[in-house]
Amino acid sequence: MSSEILDKLKWRYACKKFDTTKKLTQEKLTILKNAFNLTATSYGLQPLKMLVISNQKIKQDLVSLTMNQQQVADCSQVLVLCTETKISSTYIKEYFDTVVSLRETPREIVQPFEDFLTKDFSQKDPSQINTWMAKQAYLALGNLLTVCALEDIDACPIEGFEPQKYDSFLDLTDKGLQSVLVLAVGYRAADDVFSSMAKVRRGTEKVIIEL
Ligand SMILES: Cc1cc2nc3c(=O)[nH]c(=O)nc-3n(C[C@H](O)[C@H](O)[C@H](O)COP(=O)(O)O)c2cc1C
Repeated sequence: MSSEILDKLKWRYACKKFDTTKKLTQEKLTILKNAFNLTATSYGLQPLKMLVISNQKIKQDLVSLTMNQQQVADCSQVLVLCTETKISSTYIKEYFDTVVSLRETPREIVQPFEDFLTKDFSQKDPSQINTWMAKQAYLALGNLLTVCALEDIDACPIEGFEPQKYDSFLDLTDKGLQSVLVLAVGYRAADDVFSSMAKVRRGTEKVIIEL
């Protein structure tokens, strides 16, 4: 692996204090939006949406719903990774409609897989589907964290927030969505003491098993 990538991964850290004067350009935001959309998901179903919040008043109001973590107010954008509230047969059909139209695949080729997924999802417990969808959101988070590092964007992944309060404050339920993860993005403040702290990791000799 290129050491340049490792250098970027060592440069990144969970930013605790953002520089309120520095904002992401539209170009950088477009990169993050595309990276989110390009994230691999199970079956390719992408049961995800991402809110991009630039509005300062909304960001400020999110602080109290985020365990008083000031990063959501001080960052450039708050990204809220959401999952669908349910996966219906219509949702699955729309995915296969897109496959057919983008790849010009005959419907009869994809139909058996569509039938399988429709049946499989209809038999699953909603909590099982929620867990599956949340896993896809975490994949997107990992992807975004790496892309941020490669693009010299600082970020703080945030699980410490109140999802139900976010859902109601941001009208997510009405949009058929539920919040799963938050990612604050922007640029580190010069005096964020965490930026110069040593990385705390267990070490490859402890976490890698070679057979
Ligand atoms: C899923 C997830 C949730 C996290 N939630 C928070 C959070 O709510 N607040 C925070 O300050 N850091 C949060 N972190 C940051 C971690 O504490 C941090 O990534 C970890 O200690 C490793 O340090 P580093 O990212 O600076 O290398 C979270 C990280 C992940 C991956």
